[in-house]
Amino acid sequence: MARPKIALIGGGQIGGVLAQLCALRELGDIVLFDIVEGMPQGKTLDIAEASPVDGFDVNVTGTNDYKDIAGANIVIVTAGLPRKPGMSRDDLIGVNTKIMTSVAEGIRDNAPEAFVIVISNPLDAMVTLCRKVTGFPAARVMGQAGVLDSARFQSFIAWELGVSIRDVNAMTLGGHGDTMVPLVRYASVNGIPVMELLEQKYGSAEKANEVMTAMVERTKAAGGEVVKLLGNGSAFYSPASSAVAMAESILKDQKRVLPTCALLNGEFGVDGFYVGVPCVLGAGGIEKIIEFKLDETEQALMDNSVAAVKELVGSMNL
Ligand code: APR
Repeated sequence: MARPKIALIGGGQIGGVLAQLCALRELGDIVLFDIVEGMPQGKTLDIAEASPVDGFDVNVTGTNDYKDIAGANIVIVTAGLPRKPGMSRDDLIGVNTKIMTSVAEGIRDNAPEAFVIVISNPLDAMVTLCRKVTGFPAARVMGQAGVLDSARFQSFIAWELGVSIRDVNAMTLGGHGDTMVPLVRYASVNGIPVMELLEQKYGSAEKANEVMTAMVERTKAAGGEVVKLLGNGSAFYSPASSAVAMAESILKDQKRVLPTCALLNGEFGVDGFYVGVPCVLGAGGIEKIIEFKLDETEQALMDNSVAAVKELVGSMNL
């Protein structure tokens, strides 16, 4: 069987880490595309020259020509500007709409069979645009946001409780913006509700709620926290890791249940919009959207997040 081919559109901060992670995991041959001449070639040469040391045996090449992504099984898109301190993800919409349009055309014309994972922000709008321009089936066009937002939530819980990150399970739903919905009720340590553990630790439900609220708020603002510290750009290690988990689940047909920005068709009361929800990712791309019951408060938060996504997407006048 031919080795899978992974095309990475955008060779900046996230693109470079994506290329290295995909190589280290030997997910397939990697082509890194960017409009800046020399840069994707230089980064991939650098990564490829580490292969004797790290022992990975895949081809890693850089290009400025969309023709080189032909035959890609999966495309991960990070082309576009990142945030600067003080900016929201939504502030990027003007400039990144133009970039995403040209990128989606390049994918449509050169890798028509590919699965596409979009990372560029504002995520919910960019993935909507990508689907519209490519015309690909919804099962093949998705966005990465929820794996990262959930990972941030999980990290804060693990640090707070002093337990291994491996045993923490928690998820966020909704858009990839300030209205995202970290699900408190389902957050657990190996199945034990996090709220119960917080109550044990602090001895009162009130204090437990206070601590959880702080973690929820930190999760929602976590991207901005990194932007502020970096001073010049946004998070890149964790978004790359998150997209690689999604790509791996598709390429290896793992059927992992990962929060994915997916086109909804009535699920959670949403029709025709891309929103973050748990999905089964396998050889068919988004093989299943998993719908489950939200309580009244959770549904209200979800509705609020969906309203923000609708407003953002509406502003693109697609
Ligand atoms: N086609 C392809 N690549 C492009 C285009 C284009 N039309 N326009 C810009 N790029 C490239 C830039 O040359 C740059 O190398 O996109 C890359 C973006 O890299 P960075 O600026 O380092 O941004 P990064 O941190 O990787 O984030 C990329 O992901 O998380 C989001 O908000 C983030 O939208 C941003 C994107």
